[in-house]
Amino acid sequence: MKPVLFITGASSGIGKATALYFHQQGWRVVASMRNPQNEKDLKQDERLILVKLDVEQKETIAPAIQKALEAFGQIDVWLNNAGYGAYGPMEAGTDEEIRRQFEVNFFGLISCMREILPHFKSRKTGTIINISSIGGLMTLPMFGVYNSSKFALEGLTEGLWYDLQPLGIKVKLVEPGGIKTDFAGRSMNEFDQSKFPEYKAYNDKILARFKDPKYTQNFGTPEMVAEVIWQAATDGTNTLRYLAGKDAKQFWGLRRWMGYKFQMEQVKKYFGI
Ligand SMILES: NC(=O)c1ccc[n+]([C@@H]2O[C@H](COP(=O)([O-])OP(=O)(O)OC[C@H]3O[C@@H](n4cnc5c(N)ncnc54)[C@H](OP(=O)(O)O)[C@@H]3O)[C@@H](O)[C@H]2O)c1
Repeated sequence: MKPVLFITGASSGIGKATALYFHQQGWRVVASMRNPQNEKDLKQDERLILVKLDVEQKETIAPAIQKALEAFGQIDVWLNNAGYGAYGPMEAGTDEEIRRQFEVNFFGLISCMREILPHFKSRKTGTIINISSIGGLMTLPMFGVYNSSKFALEGLTEGLWYDLQPLGIKVKLVEPGGIKTDFAGRSMNEFDQSKFPEYKAYNDKILARFKDPKYTQNFGTPEMVAEVIWQAATDGTNTLRYLAGKDAKQFWGLRRWMGYKFQMEQVKKYFGI
């Protein structure tokens, strides 16, 4: 029997592309999402099922796993993909907005891993792949809150890499750069900056750069990330980190080989700040 991939946030972007990619490769796929009743592109068949899972509603996780096990009898790879991005200066974000960023991008993944680990431990095998970001290894202006949620995920996942290996469980991180998905649209929570006019000129410069086709033309595709996830799921190694995208590799190369001070000065120059 072919292995089984379980994905969170499969309604869109990287999650959907990965569901389609693994399905095309013959795997069995559990595509979980907040509103499976609205899904149009992913068609259920004997190798693909849709299940409801909202990482903010812990009570939806165990039933989703139960449905997957009833359909396929096992889960081999768990892909923690669901997430969104907070944007804006920290002080413009309310406590609720900042806590929610961590609730979805960090604590939500803990809740999922808590539920899937007993299954992996009982089988003495399994792979967890966490979608972080190049923004989990370095920051961009105005993305400090989002980046800190991914930095937290990096630290946790690196720690789990040690702790779960003796139990036969692989733990991996995929670090995409800019990817053409709904992330910058529907999945962006822009803080209300109306009470913080002192950031306006600075923010305008940053937004102009983010919207500049010279910047976005280098973005990768969700299908490209799906291929990197495939490599992470199937290469049989204990490699922890997989960079996904030309810009992610460039940013990381700059930071690694030239040092963080130089790399951060380059970011300032790029944004004109
Ligand atoms: N695009 C990029 O440039 C980029 C770069 C680096 C990392 N990433 C990471 O890649 C992952 C996927 O993002 P994407 O680019 O594919 O964006 P996307 O197309 O907007 O997809 C985000 C997915 O997360 C789901 N989601 C959001 N909150 C959720 C929750 N509480 N419970 C369950 N699912 C939830 C969304 O579901 P709904 O349809 O229900 O909203 C959607 O399926 C994220 O973790 C993101 O941080 C993206």
